Amino acid sequence: QITKERYMTAKRQLEVMFNVLPAAGASTTLPPPPPCPTCEPPPPEAVEPLRTSVPRLLEEENGTGGEQGGAPAAVAGGSGGGQVVTPWEVEADEEVDYNKLVVAFGSQLISEDMVARVERLTNRRAHRFLRRGLFFSHRDLNQLLDLYEKGEKFYLYTGRGPSSEALHLGHLVPFQFTQWLQEAFGVPLVIQLTDDEKFLFKSNLPLAETHRLARENARDIIACEFDPAKTFMFSDLDYIKELYPVVLQIQKFVTFNQTRGIFGFNDSTNIGCIAFPAVQAAPSFSVAFPKVLGKANMPCLIPCAIDQDAYFRMTRDVAPRLRYPKPALIHSKFFPGLQGPKGKMSASELGTAVFVTDTQKQVEQKVKSSFSGGQDTKEKQLELGANLSVDVAYQYLGFFLEDDDEYRQIGEDYAAGRLLTGQVKKRLVEVLWEVVGKHQRLRAAVTDEQLERFMSVRPLEY
Ligand code: TRP
Repeated sequence: QITKERYMTAKRQLEVMFNVLPAAGASTTLPPPPPCPTCEPPPPEAVEPLRTSVPRLLEEENGTGGEQGGAPAAVAGGSGGGQVVTPWEVEADEEVDYNKLVVAFGSQLISEDMVARVERLTNRRAHRFLRRGLFFSHRDLNQLLDLYEKGEKFYLYTGRGPSSEALHLGHLVPFQFTQWLQEAFGVPLVIQLTDDEKFLFKSNLPLAETHRLARENARDIIACEFDPAKTFMFSDLDYIKELYPVVLQIQKFVTFNQTRGIFGFNDSTNIGCIAFPAVQAAPSFSVAFPKVLGKANMPCLIPCAIDQDAYFRMTRDVAPRLRYPKPALIHSKFFPGLQGPKGKMSASELGTAVFVTDTQKQVEQKVKSSFSGGQDTKEKQLELGANLSVDVAYQYLGFFLEDDDEYRQIGEDYAAGRLLTGQVKKRLVEVLWEVVGKHQRLRAAVTDEQLERFMSVRPLEY
């Protein structure tokens, strides 16, 4: 029989084990979870504060705004200004308006000062994704850098949903950037492979298949040259035992009602999907990695594409109630598809993207048929020039051409009509093949032993 005493002892042991006990000096009681009709009712003395003091998710403690930002129209499905951006859907009439998205989500634009600060702190030139505003938005990055400046190390957290064998160029963007952050700041990194997510959210992927894909994708990620001593990569299926206590804490503090808006869930959503956001949230708290990071309340920075923000708005809302630090975020824009800069590419539609497995010939053909902002004829192009903001080749150069001077020159000449679309595309093929060819060489060189090392639960060096 479970007495209250035995329950409290067990609870305390678990809390100590998973480091959820508040720091000395802090109040010793965790705030109560939101009321749940199916749970045991709280002891009578807890009823009053429970009713009056539990802040609603998506509202700051002071009751104004919150992670979701102030605009009420921005709430449902994470939409902003006629656009819908959730982890599963990116829809915009024209190009995605990133300024509106920042307002709708309540994040901050990355200023030039901030890029300069990163350069000062890391003693190196900013990554081209930062220089060119491709990582353009953040949450609490300044606070994280303040801590770093005072000598406190943070850890990086990013991930991938293993839904297909081949990654496209857009998939490389967050990983290339994360690799740069790891090297520049010298910090540890955890990479989540959400085989569970892809099983739940895709209609025809067996679990064994997403689990297999996680390991295949892990090889591509290793090929991005992460530091094996500082990187832990895990499949949710394999690591769930360690993750679960943190997942449960998060689940207890988030209601269905609070997620249906941000994720667009409804009454027909399978319950695995409804529970999943807590699994993606959990690695934002270092307590989920007792053996790997060995430290509770370590600050966390999450580089991700802006469509993943919904998960982390939820995470940041729940953090104070678990007495964990809110993770900081740095968001990228979407990588445009070959048919134009509208939304993101799809790994399941092969024609929409350049894949890291493509041959040189395929890269050439895809670039050739990509959407152009140039004019139809040579004469018109010489006279009018290209519209750079919709030109896929020019956009791709922005992502992958390292040389700033050359990139600026191409932009000027192409816009003024001094360059033809064919010439720009030819340069792009060279640049992309360098990226794709290098990736293929590095991936082929990844050994089973390396894979095991990256995926084994072990203390990281930092
Ligand atoms: N949900 C992401 C995807 O489908 C994968 C992911 C898990 C992730 N954890 C993350 C992405 C953290 C960015 C940051 O690709």
